[in-house]
Amino acid sequence: MSYTAETRRRRTFAIISHPDAGKTTLTEKLLLFSGAIQIAGAVKGRKASRHATSDWMEIEKQRGISVASSVMQMSYREHVVNLLDTPGHKDFSEDTYRVLTAVDSALMVIDAANGVEAQTRRLIEVCRQRDTPIITFVNKMDREVREPLDILDEVERELGMPCVPMTWPVGQGKSFGGIINLRTQTMTVFEAGSERRPQDFEAIPLSDADTLRARFGSAFDEALESMELAVGASPAWDHEAFLAGKQTPVFFGSGVNNFGVMEVLDALVDLAPSPRPRISRLTVNRQTTETEVKPEDTGFAGVVFKVQANMDANHRDRIAFVRVASGRYTPGMKLKVQRTAKELRPTSVVTFMSQRREAVEEAYAGDIIGFTTHGGVQLGDTITDGSNLQFTGLPFFAPEMFMTVVLKNPLRTKQLQQGLAQLGEEGAIQVFKPDTGGNMLLGAVGQLQFEVVQHRLKAEYDCDVRLESCQYTGARWITADSAADLKAFTDAYPMRLAHDAADTLAYLCTSPYDVRLAQERFPKIHFHPLREHA
Ligand code: G4P
Repeated sequence: MSYTAETRRRRTFAIISHPDAGKTTLTEKLLLFSGAIQIAGAVKGRKASRHATSDWMEIEKQRGISVASSVMQMSYREHVVNLLDTPGHKDFSEDTYRVLTAVDSALMVIDAANGVEAQTRRLIEVCRQRDTPIITFVNKMDREVREPLDILDEVERELGMPCVPMTWPVGQGKSFGGIINLRTQTMTVFEAGSERRPQDFEAIPLSDADTLRARFGSAFDEALESMELAVGASPAWDHEAFLAGKQTPVFFGSGVNNFGVMEVLDALVDLAPSPRPRISRLTVNRQTTETEVKPEDTGFAGVVFKVQANMDANHRDRIAFVRVASGRYTPGMKLKVQRTAKELRPTSVVTFMSQRREAVEEAYAGDIIGFTTHGGVQLGDTITDGSNLQFTGLPFFAPEMFMTVVLKNPLRTKQLQQGLAQLGEEGAIQVFKPDTGGNMLLGAVGQLQFEVVQHRLKAEYDCDVRLESCQYTGARWITADSAADLKAFTDAYPMRLAHDAADTLAYLCTSPYDVRLAQERFPKIHFHPLREHA
């Protein structure tokens, strides 16, 4: 098959939701119906992520589980579908944002009783920024939930884009009769239970209205009426608008009952985009070259969007998750890390097949492959088969909380530095070195990140550390229009400056007013709340 054909049959998407909306259940059913797993229950272990607590074992378990199953590949209807899970706990939201940079679309699961919840809202914002197409699945229709029109209205408001219903529910909770498929004009009849396969559900054409009325009574007429209202209020389905992130198709169902799930799987194949071109911005000697890298280009290129330490503490290796942007990966290929211009010699290269890892035989744009290495790769690195490219856009968010690290045994300083450097490279935490010296600062977006880092420093680097609170509550990355402006600023605030793991200058602040004041004093200095890996 040609490169073009291979990339066109790929679909790479992230599944996003607020905890408990039914993401794990839906993931499992998608895997089940594509044939990637044989029995239900296999994905259940991932639920650990939901209960992330400060319990160390729990964190370890969570890490292990996420290595094994945060990326899952399945084939369905001659397509290769790559599903990327996003961490459930809000303290790891940075990870989630980065995962969203590696996908071409997102599947949003919402609980029909709760509508769009806090956690989903933040994720939506990131999708919106990138114009990522979103498919919406309204789950748990077998429960007493909100009116579908009401849910649609909320999704529309929260997403800031019109919804186009693809299926429509007849009743809900105890009187849930099934869903009407607007395209095929048939009603699929609901039956509770998790054994049934999608093809086992009974389908009745809408034209057989007498039968439907006789079986579902007023619920059927009410559904028709609300469906008409919904359709009247929504724009016509416009595939281009969906691809541009300007409208979302909406499906209703009940994940746990295998109901309405096949429609989503089909939508991923029929509607979701195949990999799209990515922009490389390479700066050499202050000269930036912009290149559009097409998925079907023959040169291999990919970007590291996640780095994960190996679970086996005896092996200090790490897996760099690479989203292939173009070309074809084959084993034994010579690879280069753009940032260092060094050759990457992975000890193994794996693909993620639902529950297991396998050696990659080949991978194309859209696929996610894992390079096991002993170092030399960082989050945001571009890896190619030799060409000079640098993908940008991997976000780092300014930390919202800080702690200083105090080493209990000063003889372990070297190990601490190594540990912090590596954890920083993984993106587990952000590490800042104050310009004036002193203890290292750890910056995080969520409290749990500190706990994970403290635990891992002990378990993996044998460094017992104490984390102490400090005065800083935020940071901004600093750039200036001219070297003179920058100097004036750094001279004014020597005690507030630090460099992060990527050696980028940052200003440490103690309150939001603090940034505002500094900004007023130095209008030519730019204070960035977000750093993109470049
Ligand atoms: P998450 O990954 O988004 O956190 O959600 P998960 O799939 O774990 O689902 C959360 C709970 O909602 C689970 O119940 C799950 O069984 C239930 N659920 C998922 N889909 C549906 C649905 O369509 N209808 C109904 N009624 N419930 C659904 P639990 O009690 O927490 O776990 P379990 O003991 O049932 O596994």
